[in-house]
Amino acid sequence: MAEKNQNQYQPPESNGYHRNDQESLHTMEDEEAKRKKRMKWTIGIIAFIIFQVVQALFFVLVIMKFKSPNFRVSEFNVQTFNVGTQASPSFDMSFVAPIRVKNTNWGPFKYDASTISFTYGGVQVGQTIIPKNKANFKSTKKIDVNVTLSSANLPTNINSNLGSELSSGVIMLTSLGELKGKITVMFMFKKKKTSQMNCTMAINTTTKAVQSLLCK
Ligand SMILES: *[C@@H]1O[C@H](CO)[C@@H](O)[C@H](O)[C@H]1NC(C)=O
Ligand SMILES: *[C@@H]1O[C@H](CO)[C@@H](O)[C@H](O)[C@H]1NC(C)=O
Ligand SMILES: *[C@@H]1O[C@H](CO)[C@@H](O)[C@H](O)[C@H]1NC(C)=O
Repeated sequence: MAEKNQNQYQPPESNGYHRNDQESLHTMEDEEAKRKKRMKWTIGIIAFIIFQVVQALFFVLVIMKFKSPNFRVSEFNVQTFNVGTQASPSFDMSFVAPIRVKNTNWGPFKYDASTISFTYGGVQVGQTIIPKNKANFKSTKKIDVNVTLSSANLPTNINSNLGSELSSGVIMLTSLGELKGKITVMFMFKKKKTSQMNCTMAINTTTKAVQSLLCK
């Protein structure tokens, strides 16, 4: 800037008039080049800062968002199915329950062993154990477990309700469970999470299949 001003204030009658004019042209070109270079640097730095901010936001809002994995039972067919009558209501059934642990986190979910209870009318009719394991990052762990259910221990009032359900051809069951575990993101950020299972299923006694299934 100082150089430029000096040139501007040079008296025109000076002997180096022509040369100075050229020089000033050069200086202007230099200034232009410098300005462009500065501009490039400024744009580069701004782009880098924006990149860092976006990366940090992505990290905080997406990667570090710890969510309880979805814990549920999926649809199945009953393999062994013995049902009584309306007058003498009972059921015995066994099936392979497809348990699913859907982990949407950016890191694995390691869970402890746990128990799933199957209930009829709020009374437990059977249970199954989920062994300790893990659901990998952004994936669904599939656990197929054998389940045997029996109405043998149902109290009388609930058993009479079973009688009317049997005559309608559908048995309503509930599966309840809790999976406690830890999510680890980028090998170091850990958070404990608990997933709840509360699924209600209607089993059609004719087709021996799950006819409707609702998980909370
Ligand atoms: C489930 O039962 C089947 C047939 O009885 C058996 O082959 C299988 O090993 C059992 N699975 C488990 C996890 O116990
Ligand atoms: C059970 O399934 C059969 C065959 O799909 C169907 O006709 C019947 O309506 C079902 N029962 C009930 C109570 O929905
Ligand atoms: C499961 O869901 C049902 C229906 O919303 C609810 O009444 C029941 O209390 C729930 N059970 C548990 C153990 O959360």
